[in-house]
Amino acid sequence: MEKTVKVGLLGLGVVGTGVLEILADHQEKIEKSIGGPLVVTKALVRPEEDKQALADKYHLELVTELEAILNDPEISIIVEVMGRIEPAKTFIKQALIAGKNVVTANKDLLAQHGSELVDLAREQQRNLYYEASVAGGIPILRTIANSLAADDITEVLGIVNGTTNYMLTKMVQEHRSYEETLKEAQALGFAESDPTNDVDGIDAAYKMVILSKFAFGMTITMDQVKIKGIRGLAAEDVSIADQLGYTVKLIGSTIKQDDTISVEVGPILVPHKHPLASIHNEMNAVFVKSSGIGESMYYGPGAGARPTATSIVADLMTIVNKMKKNTVGHRFTGYTQPTKITPPSENISKYFLSLEMPDEAGQFLKLAEIMTETQVGFEQVVQEKGDGENARVVLITHETSETKMLTIQQEIKDKTSYKILSLMKVMGE
Ligand SMILES: NC(=O)c1ccc[n+]([C@@H]2O[C@H](COP(=O)([O-])OP(=O)(O)OC[C@H]3O[C@@H](n4cnc5c(N)ncnc54)[C@H](OP(=O)(O)O)[C@@H]3O)[C@@H](O)[C@H]2O)c1
Repeated sequence: MEKTVKVGLLGLGVVGTGVLEILADHQEKIEKSIGGPLVVTKALVRPEEDKQALADKYHLELVTELEAILNDPEISIIVEVMGRIEPAKTFIKQALIAGKNVVTANKDLLAQHGSELVDLAREQQRNLYYEASVAGGIPILRTIANSLAADDITEVLGIVNGTTNYMLTKMVQEHRSYEETLKEAQALGFAESDPTNDVDGIDAAYKMVILSKFAFGMTITMDQVKIKGIRGLAAEDVSIADQLGYTVKLIGSTIKQDDTISVEVGPILVPHKHPLASIHNEMNAVFVKSSGIGESMYYGPGAGARPTATSIVADLMTIVNKMKKNTVGHRFTGYTQPTKITPPSENISKYFLSLEMPDEAGQFLKLAEIMTETQVGFEQVVQEKGDGENARVVLITHETSETKMLTIQQEIKDKTSYKILSLMKVMGE
């Protein structure tokens, strides 16, 4: 039996506790795979936290100062599961400088400061792994970095936020409002009391920044991602989309055109027969289009203590294997390319446009004029029966550029009294 590999844990919340559980429950298989025991010996907690029962159960020491872990020469790997940017960023940097390898599930941190941390790990000849930061239990980063290494990926589309997917599933299947489904998601613990990061698409955007690096080797900043959430999405529009053959999903996309990519998060109309339309409730999926394999989809739980911890422990085991072979220090993904963003004039899609306009003759003509002037055709129109005052008109355009859709929005604002209720991209078949 080889020497025990000792791990320090930063944060003993949902995922931290999951890591202890997975290490204990799957101990025998883990030991057989890596040739020896892998144990958490110390966990950093806040002074006021009472985690003694957990510490006793898993035979570990609770500490309240990072130094107690950094200065322990027996600890070779640190798992950061505290969340947020600071002090997590400083702690990870200190850990790498102290010669520790690091595993983290922190998507916010990786999306915003990933390059700096990855470069530091490389300089220090240490490993930094973060499989759990994207889609929790789905092994998508390793799959793209290893199994798809030889493939030419053209698109990565993801349902990577479980909270919003749960809400949209209920809106589509049970015809419930945005507000009702948000309350239910909060009551079930899927959505936090401040749901901003989920409903405004920010959480999904963090994950698309990380996926863009793995799929296309490009380092994207958050301000290069076009982000739109589902806040206030009308149940009526979700239902009309359904009648037209589409399911509304919050999709994170990173799409390559020549040597540029376009990275977006937003509610999108997904054709009913597309595999992503069948991802329900809080589940996640990542759909990849590539020239070698064609289409592939990776499905599973995007969060939760045990799924997330399973990805973290797999990262730990990868590092142990590298330590044994003396190959520690390589990046999680080595693929790097210059970052180039697709200009809006070349970002092409069909669009779903829902408008409220006065319920009177001649109103639709104004819209038709604007569309003709901008040279954007439409393939489907639905006019809902108005209430005598206002009527809802929904149309699906032919393929057009983002630039032209921006012009149409501006013209509608300048030349009509219509209210734009929603504007969403429509995914091709
Ligand atoms: N939950 C999931 O399903 C999931 C899935 C994928 C990725 N992640 C990521 O995993 C990380 C952890 O998530 P979680 O759900 O486990 O969060 P959590 O339940 O809030 O756990 C974090 C723990 O770390 C503690 N902590 C924070 N700052 C600390 C500090 N300076 N010193 C000591 N302890 C500190 C927190 O204490 P306080 O509560 O007192 O702040 C809390 O006990 C996050 O980066 C999250 O984005 C989570």
